[in-house]
Amino acid sequence: MAESMKGLKRTCRCAELGDNNIGQNVTVMGWVQKQRNKGGIIFVDLRDRSGILQLIFEEDEIGSEGFAKAEKLRSEFVVAVTGEVTARSGAVNEKLATGTIELRAKAIRVLSESETPPFPIERDSKTKEELRLKYRYLDLRRPDLQSNLILRSRVAMLIRQFLSEEGFLEIETPMLTKSTPEGARDYLVPSRVHPGSFYALPQSPQIFKQLLMCAGYDRYFQIARCFRDEDLRADRQPEFTQLDMELSFVDEEDVMDVNERLLKKVFKEILDVDISLPIQRMTWQEAMDRFGSDKPDLRFGMELVDVSDIVKNCEFGVFTGALEAGGSVRGINAKGQGGMPRKKIDALVKYAKDFGAKGLAYLCVNEDGTYKSSFAKFMKEEELEALVSAMDGQPGDLLLFAADKNKVVWDVLGNLRLEIARNLELLDKNEFCFVWITEFPEFEYSEEQGRYVAMHHPFTMPMEEDIPLLKSNPEKVRARAYDIVLNGTELGGGSIRIHQDDVQETMFEALGFTKEKANEQFGFLIDAFKYGVPPHAGLAYGLDRLIMLIAKQDNIRDVIAFPKMKDASCLMTEAPGTVDDKQLEELCLDVKAVAEEIAESE
Ligand code: AMO
Ligand code: AMP
Repeated sequence: MAESMKGLKRTCRCAELGDNNIGQNVTVMGWVQKQRNKGGIIFVDLRDRSGILQLIFEEDEIGSEGFAKAEKLRSEFVVAVTGEVTARSGAVNEKLATGTIELRAKAIRVLSESETPPFPIERDSKTKEELRLKYRYLDLRRPDLQSNLILRSRVAMLIRQFLSEEGFLEIETPMLTKSTPEGARDYLVPSRVHPGSFYALPQSPQIFKQLLMCAGYDRYFQIARCFRDEDLRADRQPEFTQLDMELSFVDEEDVMDVNERLLKKVFKEILDVDISLPIQRMTWQEAMDRFGSDKPDLRFGMELVDVSDIVKNCEFGVFTGALEAGGSVRGINAKGQGGMPRKKIDALVKYAKDFGAKGLAYLCVNEDGTYKSSFAKFMKEEELEALVSAMDGQPGDLLLFAADKNKVVWDVLGNLRLEIARNLELLDKNEFCFVWITEFPEFEYSEEQGRYVAMHHPFTMPMEEDIPLLKSNPEKVRARAYDIVLNGTELGGGSIRIHQDDVQETMFEALGFTKEKANEQFGFLIDAFKYGVPPHAGLAYGLDRLIMLIAKQDNIRDVIAFPKMKDASCLMTEAPGTVDDKQLEELCLDVKAVAEEIAESE
């Protein structure tokens, strides 16, 4: 019984109406949220992306035919209704933006009917995410997802406007390209025209934006789709969006300045939050030492304390063993948590083990000044006192210690600190603590590859005073790289790029690239730099993550219209899927029997 909307024009959205419109005749179109038939009078909540409006149908106003249509309305029917805006006849609904008015229907058309949806279209859905993602088009009708995506669109517009006013040009770079240097696994696309050859989908526009600087475009930005075949977490997607930018003739100060002003504008206009500038800066080393993380959440304290010196001569083998192996012993103080039941402490120990801890030593400072501890028996009274005092342990506090290689200790305590903060509900989504992390190590050692790999990417300029160490002492080299971190999330990262060929060559050597391999992978960039390259630098934000934090969401999927699941599949389209033999033939591809077996068993 779908009617056409011929001759009818929508005059406004549902929740655009208010007291000012009382007495006006309007036409609204949208979805039936619910229909209540009170006998002789029918109430309908009509929903569109702006919100909900109450419609009232009475037979003497709409006629018997119209009234009969209203009687048959069910959830998610699409209707067009013309009528007069009036003050509410019943009680005002405080919860609704349009709670003081209603629309007295004079005509109705049912534009389409709906089957009963598999879950209710409502805010704060209790429905399992799998089901919602299968019917994403229905899920996207829910007001919370709609407001996330509306916010996303507004942020993107603001960014475009701001960067354009700052002299940036929006330029697109290719999706079908060669492997890019971000270090994750590539998504590959087979070429039909060149059998046996593959395009890689870009992990970022990195090389192209550097080429645009070579080409003289000076200031570039793009809201760019990036693809990374890596293990997914709550804030990662295989296909995500970067706000990517590159600038010529600049240093760190210039990049940070324009980005701080951009963030300030976005947070002011969208959330009416004032970010005070300049945003604080912290070196990577300081972030690791104080917070055990290169993306520290600064909304609360509970900082790490290095107690290696205090415990180095004690009798506790766990501590001294770690120190002898070149590691450290560090602790955190969970203030006021000394009374934590054993069960909860055990849960923290288990949590620590998930991050590679062999164990977690604890000490509760009792109210009477005595200690309850897993290791106190191995320590002299004065050692314990020195330890507790170094940790600022007061009666009622819980001290937790990890002993291991630095990397493990940082990771364990950094994560434990967050876990305790979550348990104690110390994390306020309305508080926004930004920090720039600087002076990252240029390299990290990859056990898997048995060599140093670039922590950021191979085009990141080392700090000038560290350039002589590139060959002799790579682990000591600090990079002119910076990350922007918000509330413990890495929002974005960037760096000053290498533009001198001798430095770039040494970098490739340090990374174990032969000249041939460097040329094969990045030859066109190396060549381009021979023709006059400006000093340049850039930054890229994870736009999805930025929106997630602005929208105060925990899940990146809630700010992406059509996201992927943890296993990188799409429950709605069922991508990825198998393809016809004919398609494979055209691409000269043969799917191995093993892959087919795996696919069949799934
Ligand atoms: P980087 O690899 O740090 O830098 O990426 C920039 C930002 O992109 C976001 N991000 C992701 N978001 C969602 N899902 C993912 N899988 C994902 N991976 C990364 C993060 C990250 O900070 N070309 C350089 C930037 C530059 O040097 O200019 C780059 O891509 O928020
Ligand atoms: P054990 O002697 O192995 O029973 O350990 C004694 C205490 O030290 C227990 O509370 C363990 O959880 C803790 N522990 C063990 N290994 C470590 C470690 N690497 N760092 C901190 N505490 C540890």
